[in-house]
Amino acid sequence: MIPPVPYVAAMAPYALADLGAPGTVSLAQNESAFGPSPKAVAAGQAALAGAALYPDPDWSVLRAAISEVHGLAPARILCGAGSMELIGCLIRAFAGPGDEVLGTDYGYLFVATACLQAGASYVKAVEPDFTVSVDALLAEVSPRTRIVFLCAPGNPTGTRMPNAEIVRLRDGLPGDVLLVVDQAYGEFDDQDPAPVFALAGRGDTVVLRTFSKAYALAGARVGWGLFPEAIGHETRKLLNPNNVSAVSQTMAAAAMRDQAHMRAIAAQTAAIRDPFAARLVAAGYPIPASHTNFVLIPFASAEAANGADRRLRASGLLLRGMAGYGLPQCLRATIAAPEHMARAAEILATFKEDGHDR
Ligand SMILES: Cc1ncc(COP(=O)(O)O)c(C=O)c1O
Repeated sequence: MIPPVPYVAAMAPYALADLGAPGTVSLAQNESAFGPSPKAVAAGQAALAGAALYPDPDWSVLRAAISEVHGLAPARILCGAGSMELIGCLIRAFAGPGDEVLGTDYGYLFVATACLQAGASYVKAVEPDFTVSVDALLAEVSPRTRIVFLCAPGNPTGTRMPNAEIVRLRDGLPGDVLLVVDQAYGEFDDQDPAPVFALAGRGDTVVLRTFSKAYALAGARVGWGLFPEAIGHETRKLLNPNNVSAVSQTMAAAAMRDQAHMRAIAAQTAAIRDPFAARLVAAGYPIPASHTNFVLIPFASAEAANGADRRLRASGLLLRGMAGYGLPQCLRATIAAPEHMARAAEILATFKEDGHDR
């Protein structure tokens, strides 16, 4: 056996969602319940014929679209093969062995994997009531902290932080600690994005977004971020050149320009999510208020969550178990077509009524 570097040998592979038996309806990956913009599909089809050439390494058309819609300087935008690529490169660029990356109890799990890939330590602040606490985060900052990683709105909690709290966190952090605000679900949150984007202007904060959720392009693998110049300069050294395929860049640019389609997806998702959550609350589940395209479902015990998972699977529905997040008593349901959500709600309400949630 040829040994890898010790920190790679010590890590487990990232656990992707179980896809279930063939024919299973997946509510496990926080994919969009709705398809991408027809304009994005048409643009992608037209771009296929150009596949003999490498893509634009500067994502010019895509950056121009993002910049126009959000009023941001194109030079401050970097694009990745999913925001996962940007997360991994940011952590490798700014944290290594001996350094700490600070997240929260239920922060996005891939951040912990990206820390292992970099040999950095991942430290977590408590998240009372499934909500990020700025004070708990600030209390965990140590001289070794290089990055604070915030997922807002949160995955898997679905809860959001008021913009003012994100600003308060930044104000409370030392200037040499990088704050990364991952807003993969930002389009589902009706807060004004401007105050969070403005933080990048300070030179110490990066804001990440993705086309995988509200733009319904998870399969195209496109994420983007707003970077201070120096942070972007260093991060870009670690991105693969030509990282986003030409078809994906073209689709994402068209999707960004079709804001009406994105807003319709966000509104229709909320219109399915809220009655689903309300039905579960009425049945007695303590569901945290979601500002995303999924709902976290806490059960009384891990055994109850497993029992409910078995019933849902038997009916062809696959939710995501949350043991990896230290929440074995929870399942997470991505919002899908109304008939699937109605079936899931029915099964879960009956499970509760029959006294199995204990
Ligand atoms: C909080 C959060 N950040 C980032 C990502 C990664 O998104 P992508 O790499 O598809 O852009 C996800 C995907 O589920 C997520 O939930």
